[in-house]
Amino acid sequence: MTKLRLNPHIEPFTRADSRRSPEEIRAGQGQDKVYELANNENPLGPSPRVIEAIGAAAQSLSYYPDFSDIELRRAICKVLGRGLSPEHIYTGCSGFESLELIMRAFLGPGDEVILSPPTFSGAYRKVAEPLGARVIEAPLAPETFHYRPGAVLEAISDRTKLIMLCNPNNPTGTIIPAAAMDELMRDLPEHVIVVADEVYHHFVDSPDYPDSLQYVLAEKNIVIVHSFSKAYGMAGLRLGYGIAKPRLANYIAGLQRGFHQNKLALAAGVAACEDQAHVRRCVDFLRGEARWLCDQFDRLDVKYWQSSTNFILFETAMPADELNQRLRERGILMRALTANNLPNAIRVSVGAREANQAFINALEDILTAASH
Ligand SMILES: Cc1ncc(COP(=O)(O)O)c(C=O)c1O
Repeated sequence: MTKLRLNPHIEPFTRADSRRSPEEIRAGQGQDKVYELANNENPLGPSPRVIEAIGAAAQSLSYYPDFSDIELRRAICKVLGRGLSPEHIYTGCSGFESLELIMRAFLGPGDEVILSPPTFSGAYRKVAEPLGARVIEAPLAPETFHYRPGAVLEAISDRTKLIMLCNPNNPTGTIIPAAAMDELMRDLPEHVIVVADEVYHHFVDSPDYPDSLQYVLAEKNIVIVHSFSKAYGMAGLRLGYGIAKPRLANYIAGLQRGFHQNKLALAAGVAACEDQAHVRRCVDFLRGEARWLCDQFDRLDVKYWQSSTNFILFETAMPADELNQRLRERGILMRALTANNLPNAIRVSVGAREANQAFINALEDILTAASH
């Protein structure tokens, strides 16, 4: 008898059940409060209009949602402008799913996908590898984390299907400037698609940030991914979308199951698009808090990288796992990046002032104690 063949890239023990909730951590450590600064969430949350729209949509939950997400795609186009039409958009149940759909559409056994670590590698690999694809790395420059378009172009082979371009990049918070992206797009072979993961794009305040929509409008091989989890403050809803030339967007959307967007998400997404003032308020607030955190890092003489996002990568002399554990003991949760070959670097999400202050107080205490 033939035995059931398992996919070697799927590891059952990586199920997320083992990740403890903030409540469990709080209970276990006798903390009054736990500050969640690990997931780059927006502490201001969604627009009140979103909550209202969800309430109204909840009245008819016994019925399936619209089969088409066209209303949401229209609302997204209104925000993006530039003459984009709903044909340029597909929606996903999160930015992550919007990325996953691209990989499912194009990657098969033996195909190659190029990443530039340190980047959002864990997530990209989690989708690409079970599909049988090979991950090829063209790393960022050490220390500065500058993108190296030449190295990426050199890594392209006949089997390359996708180039993941995370901009701004997680976990470094840095941007890939327009000149570098231009170089990549100019010399891109026709069999390769660039995936511009721009879920943090709202937070960028640099004239060097590329206008990636121009490549979509020029019918280049590119898919841009946005999310409602970050500046829109709706991470719990799981809503995102991709932007590409219509032929590509339609092809990717063809993978969606029927009724793929639930009723609450459809209503919430439209309401969120219609309240751009809320998005601007969130971005202004988080930029202000990010500046405050950087001032504190300067005061404590802690090295950090200039960030174009709602998180900051910083480094101390203490191994990141140890610092992370000590911060946890103080009820402050964040992400150490040892898996990214950055043994002393930690990523902190920009929170509201109370959380940021609690983090800085704890960091100062820990570093002062360690220096004695
Ligand atoms: C670079 C990057 N891409 C995509 C995502 C996925 O966002 P979501 O699935 O919440 O829309 C995240 C989430 O943190 C991210 O950091």
